[in-house]
Amino acid sequence: MKKMLITVFILLLLGITVLISTSNKSKFGTSAKEVNWVELNSGFKEATFVKDKNVCLSCHEESANKYKHTSHSRAFEFSKEGTLESKDCESCHGPRSKHIEDPDGSLTFTEEQYSKVCMQCHQDNSRMYWSGSIHKSSDVNCVTCHSVMEQKSDEFLLSKNSQTEVCSECHTDVKAKMNKTSHHPVKEGLMDCSSCHNAHGAPGTGMLVKGTINETCYTCHQDKRGPFTWEHAPVREDCSNCHEPHGSNNRNLLTTQNASLCVSCHQYGGHINQYRYNRVSTPYGNGCVNCHMTVHGSNHPSGAKFTR
Ligand code: HEC
Ligand code: HEC
Ligand code: HEC
Ligand code: HEC
Ligand code: HEC
Ligand code: HEC
Ligand code: HEC
Ligand code: HEC
Ligand code: HEC
Ligand code: HEC
Repeated sequence: MKKMLITVFILLLLGITVLISTSNKSKFGTSAKEVNWVELNSGFKEATFVKDKNVCLSCHEESANKYKHTSHSRAFEFSKEGTLESKDCESCHGPRSKHIEDPDGSLTFTEEQYSKVCMQCHQDNSRMYWSGSIHKSSDVNCVTCHSVMEQKSDEFLLSKNSQTEVCSECHTDVKAKMNKTSHHPVKEGLMDCSSCHNAHGAPGTGMLVKGTINETCYTCHQDKRGPFTWEHAPVREDCSNCHEPHGSNNRNLLTTQNASLCVSCHQYGGHINQYRYNRVSTPYGNGCVNCHMTVHGSNHPSGAKFTR
């Protein structure tokens, strides 16, 4: 009987928690944290919200006509009264009562200030590590990559037509690597930089979507995760010991060609000394991996030397 009461109590608690968490989900309304506009620009002192975009339209028709087709415009249209979204233009441009009486360009924001404005509503999962990210500290801001006044891309309000174009503008060296003979199908449009990176910041190195390089690779190359009966130490340690993720002129994104890759770690000695073991031409084709077929690890009882 006591047990049953406890179970009922726990179920009730669970029910309440679910209720609370779903009622908070009404998009940003309740979770949005409004900035202190006066702190951003003292010109906002004593200003109030106009809350009617038609007033803005009378002078800003051209801007508003472009804005009309963006995801924000559409999302804000149906927002609940009293939320930050329902202020529409002013949710990003601040309270404008004084501006409409005496309009000028003095209430403008820097790109960095706009990032604070955006984070009122977008402090969610994907941007959890924004404040410590290399982009933020390198002065790359939300509006560097996103265009919010005009829809310029099919998705995510990006400033260029595609993600690769956005990133390539600054990371030209990466773009060049993607043109090498072996590369991930990014320029073919089958993958994006964001398949491996979170441009908003990440807890690990290199702004990777997962904590480490290997975990990032395993999201697609699960067969390499193991565990294997016979592990090859450099594979467990870091895929980039042998692979260049952005592109390489060696097959399979390898950092070095064929046998040279293996002998960069394995000292000459034993059978490696014999020409017939490390030559690249037939019958041994690709050199070492022709016999050591399971360099990523083996589950075969006699696979200790990765030959099966
Ligand atoms: C999601 C945030 C956001 C919303 C909502 C928004 N703006 Fe903007 N607006 C910006 C940003 C950021 C800029 C700075 C220029 C840029 O990045 O395009 C800007 C620039 C402007 C400019 C300067 C000229 C221009 O077009 O670049 C005007 C005028 C303007 N906005 C008016 C409006 C009006 C009117 C509305 C509502 C109909 C509105 N904005 C809604 C973020 C917003
Ligand atoms: C009576 C005309 C008028 C009205 C109404 C008006 N503006 Fe403006 N706005 C201007 C003028 C003039 C400028 C200065 C243009 C420039 O600097 O090139 C301006 C500049 C801006 C800018 C760019 C500079 C800045 O301060 O950030 C934004 C954004 C803006 N207005 C938003 C709005 C919004 C939002 C509304 C509606 C609440 C609004 N305006 C209503 C005339 C108006
Ligand atoms: C008042 C809240 C609010 C502010 C401020 C705001 N956004 Fe948004 N944003 C939204 C909402 C709501 C959506 C639509 C979400 C949805 O459809 O799930 C959205 C969607 C987006 C999207 C995705 C668009 C798409 O088509 O998938 C991007 C990118 C974005 N916002 C960037 C920004 C940037 C950059 C700023 C600052 C210049 C900003 N937002 C300011 C509320 C806001
Ligand atoms: C270096 C470029 C870059 C910067 C800086 C950037 N973004 Fe993004 N953002 C992207 C790309 C690329 C995507 C689409 C892929 C993805 O979701 O990672 C995206 C997607 C989004 C989305 C829609 C998907 C989601 O995660 O909810 C929102 C909202 C968004 N960004 C908001 C912001 C805000 C707010 C800032 C500033 C704090 C910002 N972005 C800064 C490149 C950037
Ligand atoms: C406006 C220029 C600019 C744009 C656009 C840009 N970046 Fe960056 N990015 C930088 C700068 C600056 C750094 C700092 C390190 C450096 O100088 O390379 C950086 C660093 C990085 C790093 C390395 C992080 C680290 O921890 O070493 C990655 C990964 C990255 N960016 C990915 C992207 C992706 C993905 C996009 C597109 C969604 C993008 N960047 C768009 C300027 C940019
Ligand atoms: C298959 C996964 C993958 C893809 C796709 C990818 N990257 Fe990377 N990127 C990595 C890895 C792994 C690193 C190394 C991170 C580390 O050392 O911590 C890296 C590092 C970086 C760096 C840091 C400096 C450097 O060159 O090593 C930048 C900048 C970068 N990537 C930008 C991009 C851009 C831009 C794109 C899209 C054009 C892209 N990456 C696509 C996996 C990827
Ligand atoms: C988002 C999924 C995804 C992620 C993450 C990913 N890959 Fe790939 N990888 C692919 C796809 C798709 C191909 C192309 C397969 C094909 O062409 O048949 C590929 C191909 C490869 C190839 C063979 C290339 C060639 O020239 O045939 C190697 C090696 C590789 N990936 C290594 C890595 C490494 C190392 C990482 C981690 C840094 C990684 N991948 C992360 C999807 C991914
Ligand atoms: C010790 C060097 C080395 C390390 C470390 C390494 N690889 Fe490889 N990888 C190779 C070689 C060599 C080939 C070419 C194999 C062949 O030609 O049979 C290859 C081929 C591949 C391929 C394409 C062929 C296939 O087997 O699907 C993928 C995908 C791949 N590696 C992913 C990874 C991932 C993911 C990691 C990290 C977990 C990793 N590799 C770590 C040496 C390595
Ligand atoms: C980044 C360094 C590195 C690279 C590159 C590398 N290995 Fe290894 N390999 C190791 C380490 C470390 C071990 C485990 C230590 C040991 O037993 O010697 C190992 C173990 C082995 C073993 C088992 C050795 C034994 O005595 O049990 C074989 C076989 C082997 N590697 C083959 C290869 C082949 C083939 C390649 C090229 C595709 C290669 N390795 C590339 C570092 C490397
Ligand atoms: C013709 C097939 C063949 C080729 C080619 C070959 N190996 Fe081996 N290798 C073997 C066999 C079989 C063993 C296992 C010997 C044993 O079990 O005692 C072995 C063992 C090894 C070992 C374990 C230590 C040792 O010397 O016994 C290493 C390390 C190794 N090979 C590296 C390489 C490297 C690096 C290359 C390329 C330069 C290479 N192998 C090319 C067949 C080959």
